[in-house]
This record gives sequence, C-alpha cells and structure tokens, in this order.
Amino acid sequence: MVQQPQTKPRELVVADPTTGASCPIPAPNGVSKGQGATHASFVVLPTGESARDTLTVLDNRTNKVYTIPITDGTVKATDFRQVQDTSGEGLRLFDAGFVNTAVARSKITEIDGAKGILRYRGYPIEQLSEKSTFLEVAYLLIYGELPSKGQFDDFEYEVMHHTYVHVKLAELEQSFQYDAHPMGMFIATMAAASTFDPSGNPALAGSDIYTKDRKLRNKQIFRILGKVTTIAAMAYRHRIGRPANPPQQGLSYTENFLYMMDHLSEPGFRPHPTLARALDVLFILHADHELNCSTAAMRHIGSSLVDPYSAVAGAAAALYGPLHGGANEAVVRMLESIGTVDKIPAFIESVKRREKKLMGFGHRIYTSYDPRATIIRKLAYEVFEVVGTEPLIEVAQELERVALTDEYFTSRKLYPNVDFYSGLIYKAMGFPLDYFPVLFAIPRVAGWLAHWSEAMDEPNAKIWRPRQIYCGEARRDYVPIEHRAETDVRLTEMTKTASSARRRISSWEGKKAGKL
Ligand code: ACO
Repeated sequence: MVQQPQTKPRELVVADPTTGASCPIPAPNGVSKGQGATHASFVVLPTGESARDTLTVLDNRTNKVYTIPITDGTVKATDFRQVQDTSGEGLRLFDAGFVNTAVARSKITEIDGAKGILRYRGYPIEQLSEKSTFLEVAYLLIYGELPSKGQFDDFEYEVMHHTYVHVKLAELEQSFQYDAHPMGMFIATMAAASTFDPSGNPALAGSDIYTKDRKLRNKQIFRILGKVTTIAAMAYRHRIGRPANPPQQGLSYTENFLYMMDHLSEPGFRPHPTLARALDVLFILHADHELNCSTAAMRHIGSSLVDPYSAVAGAAAALYGPLHGGANEAVVRMLESIGTVDKIPAFIESVKRREKKLMGFGHRIYTSYDPRATIIRKLAYEVFEVVGTEPLIEVAQELERVALTDEYFTSRKLYPNVDFYSGLIYKAMGFPLDYFPVLFAIPRVAGWLAHWSEAMDEPNAKIWRPRQIYCGEARRDYVPIEHRAETDVRLTEMTKTASSARRRISSWEGKKAGKL
C-alpha cells in the first residue's frame, strides 16, 4: 500500500518583532485562519492609522518584523537594507532588466500601458500630434509648459541659430567609409561634438557646471537640438555621395532637416508640406517615452555629470539596438522577407515556434494598442497620397490582423508598437532602411534632454550604480601559466578574428626573427 506523506502541523511561535526572540505557543487543534487552511496559523496584522500605507515584512529567517512605508505605490529599495540576516547582510532587491523597479521621479511623460494612454506633461499625444509642432513639443518636454508666442519665438531662434556645425566635425563625418551605417556615424559625431566646447566639459570647467549653471545647460540644449539634424543629414549625404547642404533659416525645424537631406540645385527648394508635416508628427510621436532603454541610458550616463553630448551619444547607442529604435528598420526587413500575404501563416507559425520574432510587436509597458501606432497607421495613408502606396502596407495590415486574432499574441498581450508602421512611412518617403534609427534618434534627443535636465535639478541625485548578485568563483590563488592545464577551449577556435590576430602576431614575430 502506498503511504501518504504525513504533513506535520506547523509549530506556532510568538516572536518579539524587534529582537526576534521567540517562544512556542501550543497550536489549538482546529484553529485556523482563512478558508481551507488545514493547520493552525496566525498572522499578526498591524492596525490603526499609522499602519496605513505600509508594508509589514516578516523575515522568517530571524522572526523580525519590519514596517516599510509605501509612497506613490512604491517601497524604497534602501528600506530593505534593515532586513538583515544573522550575519548582518541586508536584503537586496533583484530586478534584472528593471521590469518592476522605478529609478526616478519624473513629471515629463505619463504612460498607462493597460489603457493605451500616452501624455507629455499631461497633454494627450493625440492632441499634440494633431495641433502642435515638434519644436513646440520639445519646449514642452524640456521646460514643462507649452510656450507663449514670445517664448516659442526665442526658443525657435536659439535652436535654429545653432544648426551650424564646426567644419572639423563635418570633416569627421566625411572620413567615414562610404557604406558606414548612418547610426554609427551619428553616434560617433555626437560624441565628437563634445570635444569642440571646452567650456561645456565638466572635466575642464568643473564637475557641477550642469547642476549649477542653468544658462550653460540651456545653451547645450539649443546647440544639441540645433545640430542634431545637421549631423544626421550630413551622415545621409555622405552615404549617398553628395555634398552636405548648409542649414537654412526661415524654414521650420523639420523643413530645414528635409532641405539639408534632399536639396540638390533646385532654386527656392522647399520640402513638400504634407511630407514635412508627416515627419513633424512622427517626430512628436517619438519625442519621449519616459524611461525606455535609451532614456534610462541618458539618465544613467548623465548621473556621472558628464557633458550632454557624450550622454546623448550613449543614449543613441542604446537606441540603435534591434529591440529598441532599431526595430523600425527590422520591421521593414521582416516585411520584405515575408514578401506576400500568402506567406504570413508560415511566418506566424515560425514566430510561435520561437524561430523568429514579430518585430514591431510587443512592448514592456503597453499591454494594449500603442496609441502612437494608431496615429502612425492613419498618417501612412496621408503620405501614400503624395508619394504613392508602399506595397508592403498590405502585408503589414494582414500580419497585424492575423496576429491580433491568434491566441499566442493575444494571451501575451502583444500589440503593434510605434515601430510597426513608422518604417513603412519612412520607406515610402524614400529614406534608406539603415537611416530609420537615425529618424528615431533625432526627435528622441528632445526627450533625452528633458530627462537629463530634470535629473540635473534633482536635489538628492546620486550617481546610478546598481548592485549585483555575485555568482562567480570564491577567492583563489594565482597559478603561473606554466602550471596551468591546457584545455580544449582555445580562443582560436572560438573566433575567426582571434585566429587572424594570431596569424598577424606570428607573422610579425617571424619578421622580427628575420625569418620572413
Ligand atoms: N514576437 C514574438 N513573441 C514576442 C514578441 C514579439 N515581438 N515580443 C514578446 N514576445 C513574447 C516573448 O517571447 C515572451 O513569451 P514567453 O512569456 O512565452 O516567453 C512574452 O511575449 C513576453 O516578452 P518579453 O520579451 O519578456 O517582453 P519584454 O518586455 O522583455 O520585451 C520587447 C519587450 C523587447 C519590446 C519585445 O516585445 C520585443 O522584442 N519586441 C520586438 C522588437 C520591437 O518591436 N521593439 C520595439 C519596441 S518599441 C520601442 O523601443 C520604440
């Protein structure tokens, strides 16, 4: 006969929550709390006004009880330091990928991912994209309010009069390989821009220049917003083998960008108003998205008090990845690889087998439709009226329809994100695929600067320095190379580059020995 495992009734103890000292109490038979409980157990519940908005933590290792305040639906990670084990080691919170950790207080952008709501400084994205302009939205994000007419004129003047770049910076972009990825050029040139302004370099001008000197901070905001389109346009012109166009006054921010991109020799060239407006709307939609990967990188790098050019370069590098701003490029490559509507079922099956990813779908925050995707899908047709329909739109729409009726995607709450349709607009407008992440980076600079400036104003700011759980070797003693065992794993087998490096070294050693 199979013996049923016997579950022993849990012993009950009464513990002093501050010292952890405990003594057993008899478990009265049949006393239980909660329906279905089979063994006696008590939970001590704090009551009264002071217990409201707190978390009671019982450390079962020590029997100690801690009261942790809850503010804004959040507990402070440092409050858990007091929860110590018997060796005095404080408790840490583990959250790889910041899935459920807030790292900043911010008044810039609000997202309700379940309801599909996105607001900049309280203004719904739908209203801003319909009624505002990118430059006005940049002002709103950075300074907190919509500008008055005078404030906007000053801001526009400052930004548009900082569009020129140093000739050496232009030469730097010229020095890239003809087929260099424009995002790599963008990142490198942005970082190089920091070297042209010693007065804005904290290493030379003082570590607190950006926390103390608001004028300098503003100057860098004007410079970076002004120069970002010029640097981006120069990367494109270099790529297509045409001379760079100098920035033009009297055009809007987006018109000037399109002018620098497209002007050849036509007198009085002005970008098509529908296309300029469409790009402006796309810029508004991409301007900020609270603490996404690149904005978190901007705040992280900025927390060391480095200059904002270097921080923008780092944030742009974070944006470049295919899981973030590189997704718009990846979406179009995916749609091209699918090719036609009849190939969609096979593609969807390969996603469900985890062989492929449905790029432009899914989001860490949105568990419903990304509101930006709704606006972009509509915008696509306005652009197609001018430039002609992009044939891949048919594949995209059918892919969306199939995914949104498939249990794999619905159960995981995967919906189209901002990148699903934006790439098709950029493609229809004639931008090369590898330029798409740059088109994302230009407007996101406004959000990065808004977060950087907000962080510079934070009185209790600290350098960002997360903790780790060390899982490596314990202390061990150095072994001289001649006493180490040869292993099967050789670098030369792991990478070709390493093997070619080895060949170079041996050929150099051969020359040195006079053998070659
Ligand atoms: N295609 C197929 N399955 C997906 C996708 C997708 N695009 N996105 C998420 N999933 C699945 C995951 O495999 C996972 O399934 P599982 O629970 O069975 O393992 C589940 O959905 C949850 O996904 P996570 O990767 O854990 O979600 P996370 O929040 O970490 O990632 C991300 C979000 C990176 C955006 C992800 O959805 C993704 O890779 N999407 C495609 C890339 C993309 O479009 N990026 C642009 C995002 S928007 C922006 O940055 C501007």
